[in-house]
Amino acid sequence: MSLPPRAAITAVHGYVPPDVLTNAQLAEMVDTSDTWIIERTGIKERHILKGEGLGTSHMAAEAVRGLLQKTGTDPAEVDLLICATTTPDLQFPSTANLICDMVGVRNIGSFDVQAACSGFLYALTIGTQFIATGAARKVVVVGADKMSSIMDYTDRATCVLFGDGAGAVLLEPDQNGYGIMDSLIRSDGSGMIHLHQKAGGSRMPATAETVAKRLHYVHQEGAAVYKFAIARMAEVASEIMTRNNLRADMIDWLVPHQANKRIIESTAERMGLPMERVMVTIQKYGNTTNATIPLCLCDYEPKLKAGNRMIFAAFGGGFTWAGMYVQWAYDGASAPKLNGNGKSNGRQ
Ligand code: ACO
Repeated sequence: MSLPPRAAITAVHGYVPPDVLTNAQLAEMVDTSDTWIIERTGIKERHILKGEGLGTSHMAAEAVRGLLQKTGTDPAEVDLLICATTTPDLQFPSTANLICDMVGVRNIGSFDVQAACSGFLYALTIGTQFIATGAARKVVVVGADKMSSIMDYTDRATCVLFGDGAGAVLLEPDQNGYGIMDSLIRSDGSGMIHLHQKAGGSRMPATAETVAKRLHYVHQEGAAVYKFAIARMAEVASEIMTRNNLRADMIDWLVPHQANKRIIESTAERMGLPMERVMVTIQKYGNTTNATIPLCLCDYEPKLKAGNRMIFAAFGGGFTWAGMYVQWAYDGASAPKLNGNGKSNGRQ
């Protein structure tokens, strides 16, 4: 009996917009300081998408275009495109639809996944099912968010945390005995009160009053979210390690969602992993929501080796959380590059 094909990530590519918002600039906008932000979050700067009419799809299309270009993939070969985003360009059509049009992919299935910061792992989990059933051979999964579009730049407890960016991966049937070995996705809707956007949906459509009351921005109770994140990140990592008989010394990389450096450090400590084996990019990008994990993979790609054992872990609004066990499928050092690195951006 032949086993169903396993999905593997065979390429990664990212995009961050050229404009940078530093802690010093934020300190001119709200009552905060570079020292507070670095000590409490680990963030030094974040990228912000500027330009009239540019939404999440702009960054996602840059990431997908680069991914197709560097892998020599004809857009006609793509069987499915999934976009994980919390900041879609429009209520409809989906951002995935818009991206397809922008990169020349036509007549395939495309849709968005909304699971806040866990969305990228949710979307990867869905993509792997299409490969496993044989329904698709090339799946593009892109995580992208323009968090600056829903940020209240008068709320110091929230606006210092987030940035904009996009990261895309190509999923294909595994050729080397590696790939996405296991994944789990979880949610608890009772967490909504702690992290959500109040207006703009069908429950409270936009009016002059909702705008005046600043209800279209992220509402976050930081301490409650922090407590949840610390518990769930460690729990999801531990569950996926236990059910795959993995010990900490067998893990080459933890790839955590980048929300707060202290949450990342606490997760690593609870897993028994030294920080040298943890991907950290939060200092450069802040929390880019659905883009944090693929942007980590882009930045660390040159260090990755075929067969590396990796745990991906994320949590987000909803609440949602997710974990994944991956055996990396290729040597990153010899992967094709655009502009000499894994990202298209304004700052090489
Ligand atoms: N600058 C200076 N002081 C600040 C700032 C700031 N930017 N923000 C808050 N403070 C103040 C508070 O007002 C408070 O002052 P007070 O004691 O006088 O009331 C003090 O700092 C401490 O506030 P805390 O909320 O206890 O600060 P904490 O150390 O917990 O850090 C933070 C706040 C960074 C928001 C933290 O709670 C956190 O990271 N929470 C998790 C957020 C998160 O992960 N969100 C992503 C969710 S994923 C998604 O789906 C979008």
